[in-house]
Amino acid sequence: MPASPDSAATPSLDRRTFLKAASALGLGLAAGSPLGRAAESVSTSRRRRYALVGTGSRSLLYQDAIETDFRDHAELVGLCDTNPGRLELIRDRSQRLGGRRPPGFAAADFERMIATTKPDYVIVTTVDGTHDDYIVRAMEAGCDAISEKPLTTTPEKCQRIVDARARTGRTCRVTFNLRYSPPCTHVKDLLMSGEIGDVLSVDLHWMLDTSHGAEYFRRWHAHKKNSGGLMIHKASHHFDLVNWWLGAVPESVFATGKREFYTPKMARRLGLSGAHERCLTCPEKSRCSFYLDLAGDPMLKEFYLDQEKHDGYFRDRCIFRPEVDIEDTMNVLVRYNTGATLAYSLNAFSSWEGYTVAFNGTKGRLEHSVGAPTAAGRAPYGTTRISILPLRGPAREIVPWTGTGAHQGGDKVMLEDLFLPSPAPDKYLRAADERAGAASALVGMAANRCFTTGQPVIIKDLVRGLGPPVYAPMPGGDAPVPMPPPLKT
Ligand SMILES: NC(=O)c1ccc[n+]([C@@H]2O[C@H](COP(=O)([O-])OP(=O)(O)OC[C@H]3O[C@@H](n4cnc5c(N)ncnc54)[C@H](O)[C@@H]3O)[C@@H](O)[C@H]2O)c1
Repeated sequence: MPASPDSAATPSLDRRTFLKAASALGLGLAAGSPLGRAAESVSTSRRRRYALVGTGSRSLLYQDAIETDFRDHAELVGLCDTNPGRLELIRDRSQRLGGRRPPGFAAADFERMIATTKPDYVIVTTVDGTHDDYIVRAMEAGCDAISEKPLTTTPEKCQRIVDARARTGRTCRVTFNLRYSPPCTHVKDLLMSGEIGDVLSVDLHWMLDTSHGAEYFRRWHAHKKNSGGLMIHKASHHFDLVNWWLGAVPESVFATGKREFYTPKMARRLGLSGAHERCLTCPEKSRCSFYLDLAGDPMLKEFYLDQEKHDGYFRDRCIFRPEVDIEDTMNVLVRYNTGATLAYSLNAFSSWEGYTVAFNGTKGRLEHSVGAPTAAGRAPYGTTRISILPLRGPAREIVPWTGTGAHQGGDKVMLEDLFLPSPAPDKYLRAADERAGAASALVGMAANRCFTTGQPVIIKDLVRGLGPPVYAPMPGGDAPVPMPPPLKT
C-alpha cells in the first residue's frame, strides 16, 4: 500500500497530540486489540486447523486462501452444510486445489465434525440468521469462531453470542473485509491523522443498482428471519465502517424503511401481469429485464440449480413476489458516544452502484465516493475519489490508495491478517471481534425495530454485558482547534 503523502503533509497540534496518544497506546496494543484479547492459544509452528460450516459461494474465498496462498500455515480439516450436494462440490474443489479431500458432515453432525477433526477454528459462512447457532456451538466445543458479517440478526441471538463468549473464554472474530479495502483504510488514515480535526457528523449514502440490489430479493436474503433485512445483511458492513472510521460506539437510532420497488404492484406497473414464483418457470421471462438465467451460468447452475433437489432452495425467486418482507429504501439517524451523528441511506434500486460519504470535522470536511454514474448507467466501483475541504481553505483531491481483486483488494489484505501466523502490526486495528460485530449489527436491529414501532431505540437496552469495541485512537475531546483563516471576499 503506498504511503499517504497527504497525511504527513500538515503536522498540527491535533496530529501531534494524537500521535503521542497512539504511541502510548502502542505499548498496550496486545492487550487492547481484538487480536491481543484473542490471545494466541494455537502454536505458530504448526498449521492451524480450520473447519468450515456453510459451503456456499462465500466459502470459496476461505477455501482458496487456506488451500493455496496460506497452505503452509492453514489446513481445511472439515466441511459442513445442510445441502449435501453443495457440500460434495466443495469437497471435490479442495482436491482440485491440490489439498486433501476434507471430510464432509451434515449440519446435524456439526459437533461430531469438531470431535473427530479437532479444528482450532470454525469458519461460519452460513446464512446470516444461523451464525449465532454455529458460533455458540463452536465456542462451546472449545474452538474459536470466525464469522462472516453480520455477526447475527436479532438482539436475542446477539445475547447468546455475548454470553457464550463470556462463559467459554473462546474468541469470535468477524471478518469485516471493507475495513481492509485500500480506499476505506486511506480514509481511516486521514481521519486518524487529524486532517479534518474531530468528526462531528457523517453523511453516508449507499446505492445498490438494479442488478446487485435485485439479487437480495431473489435469494434467502429476501426474508428477515434469514438475513435481518438489508439493514443487517448489507448495512452491517456500512455501520461497521462508520463505527470504525469514527472510533465511536453507536448509542441511539431512529429510522424509517419501506419496500416500494420490488413489489407485485411494481411488476404490474412495469407491464407484467404480476409476480411469479421464479425465473426458471416464469411465463413472462422474455418481457422481464430482471430475468436471471440460472441454467445459463455454469457456477449458478452447478451450485444452486443442480442442488435444489436436496433442499428446495430456489436461487432465482421472483423479485416482485408478495411474500418478500425486507425493505428496499431505508433512512437511518445514529447518535454516537462521542456526540458525532450519522445520517445514512440505503437504496436497493439505484441507477448506479456505489457510495458517497462526507465527514464534517472541526477543521474541515472529507468527502469520499466509490462508483459514479455513467452514460451506460452502471459503473460499479469504477471511480474512487477522496477530497479534503479545509474550513475556508482550498479543496484538494487526494489520490486514493488502490488494490486489485475483490472489494478493491480488501479481501486479500484481510486474508493475510486472518491466516498469517504473525500478521504485520496494524495501526488501524482492522481485526474485529464480536463486540464490533455486535456494534454494527445492533444499529441494524435497532433500525428494524424502529421501522415497526416508529420510536427511537437505545442500543444498550438491546443486549446486556457487551463491552465496547477496540478502536485505534482518534482525534477529539477538548484539544484546541485552530481558528480558521479569515473569509476571502
Ligand atoms: N463479506 C462479504 O463481502 C460477503 C459477501 C457475500 C456473503 N457474505 C456472507 O457470507 C455468508 C454466506 O453467504 P453466501 O453468499 O455464501 O450464501 P449461499 O447461499 O451461497 O451459501 C450459504 C450456505 O449455507 C448453507 N446453509 C444454510 N443454512 C444452513 C444451516 N442451518 N447449517 C449449515 N449450512 C447452512 C446453504 O446450504 C449454503 O450452502 C452470509 O453470512 C453472507 O452475509 C459476506
